[in-house]
Amino acid sequence: MANDSLTITDNRTGKTYELPLKHGNIKAMDLRQIKADEKDFGVMSYDPAFLNTAACESRITFIDGDQGILRYRGYPIEQLAEKATYLESAYLLLYGSLPDKDQLATFTARIAKHTFIHENMKKFMEGFRYDAHPMSMLVSSIAAMSTFYPDARNVDDPEVRELMAIRLIAKMPTIAAYAYRHTNGLPFVYPDNDLSYTANFMNMLWKMAEPKFQANPVLARALDILFILHADHEQNCSTSTMRVVGSSQADPFLAMAGAAASLSGPLHGGANEEVLRMIDEIGTVDHIPDFIASVKQGERKLMGFGHRVYKNYDPRAKVIKETADSVFAVTGRNPKVDIAREIEKIALSDEYFVKRRLYPNVDFYSGIIYEAMGFRPEMFTVLFAIPRTAGWLSHWEEQCKDGDTKISRPRQVYLGPDQRDI
Ligand code: CMC
Repeated sequence: MANDSLTITDNRTGKTYELPLKHGNIKAMDLRQIKADEKDFGVMSYDPAFLNTAACESRITFIDGDQGILRYRGYPIEQLAEKATYLESAYLLLYGSLPDKDQLATFTARIAKHTFIHENMKKFMEGFRYDAHPMSMLVSSIAAMSTFYPDARNVDDPEVRELMAIRLIAKMPTIAAYAYRHTNGLPFVYPDNDLSYTANFMNMLWKMAEPKFQANPVLARALDILFILHADHEQNCSTSTMRVVGSSQADPFLAMAGAAASLSGPLHGGANEEVLRMIDEIGTVDHIPDFIASVKQGERKLMGFGHRVYKNYDPRAKVIKETADSVFAVTGRNPKVDIAREIEKIALSDEYFVKRRLYPNVDFYSGIIYEAMGFRPEMFTVLFAIPRTAGWLSHWEEQCKDGDTKISRPRQVYLGPDQRDI
């Protein structure tokens, strides 16, 4: 009997099966040979929400949830946040290694070339109601871009895939800034390709009558760090959506609209917006114990806490906490950080949270920084989606090249009525 295998005995039949292990895992399809009798369909694994199902092999991002480790292509997130830029990290995710000087210059120039969006896209965005949620505008606009790039449907062509990835990374800040300006009733500002990725974004957001908006370099760098931290997180809900939609060979704009829609939910990327609302509702430090009591009674969730994978401190939350200080040195301290720190202190010493291993996640402190920088909560998830574009597209590219890729199509356990006649 092979060492790298699993032996299963079916107690219904007394039969024994040897299932090979690859990288320590069994193939779910190998379970199907286990049948109660000839007519039996075979055993499946029941796993709503994919708690214990690997849907792909990936070489992009590694997470060790027990130890609080996150690495992009092997590089620890802390090192990337300290030493790299967002565009270098995006390149790393897409191509597998950090760019050298020439590669970075070429990549940056390619991104800059594609920052503009079609004038008709601008008109499309002008059609949204004045109070439309920026995340809804973003999702719809990503999908609408599919209508401008019919060649994006050629998903089997690696050059087309690369060009679409460049286009999406380049245009996301433009669409996001247009959504923001629309909400504020301000004219759209065209991209300025002399500026860095984040400084250009800040220019499109905040330029008024001045000829050139001078982004504060500390804030531009803080935003860049936040972008690095949000760039990828392996098979999370939105990346899985990207892979599921992409598996049908839909074009990347449509697949990414699906991914962004998935990100918008409050249990995923929408949590950052909810954290700020929660802190506003708590109001003052003395209201925290009552709030925590209501969480423990199951009346509500402590937003920005808990994670499917991390059962330890989210390493991104640690970096964000440090970044907050550099931002506050420029903007002044956001007093909400005191409420957040007190919530964290109380929760981390409370048995309810300790027992369930609930720690602050990436969304707990990010909104406080974004607010100090001048963003309203509605924009927070948009700020998550911009950098996650690199992650979504890296996974899509990996999937397109993976010989194991098939259309995603889960099974079900049918419990409805047997055939009945009208
Ligand atoms: N507040 C209170 N209780 C919680 C929380 C929370 N934030 N998160 C989990 N729990 C409890 C949950 O009720 C359950 O308790 P019990 O065992 O008594 O039923 C236990 O902890 C295990 O939770 P779960 O719901 O089985 O965990 P999950 O892996 O299905 O959910 C999660 C993960 C992130 C959806 C969840 O922790 C949550 O809803 N957190 C708040 C929303 C949030 O901050 N989301 C951002 C996640 S990180 C960034 C991102 O993904 O975009």
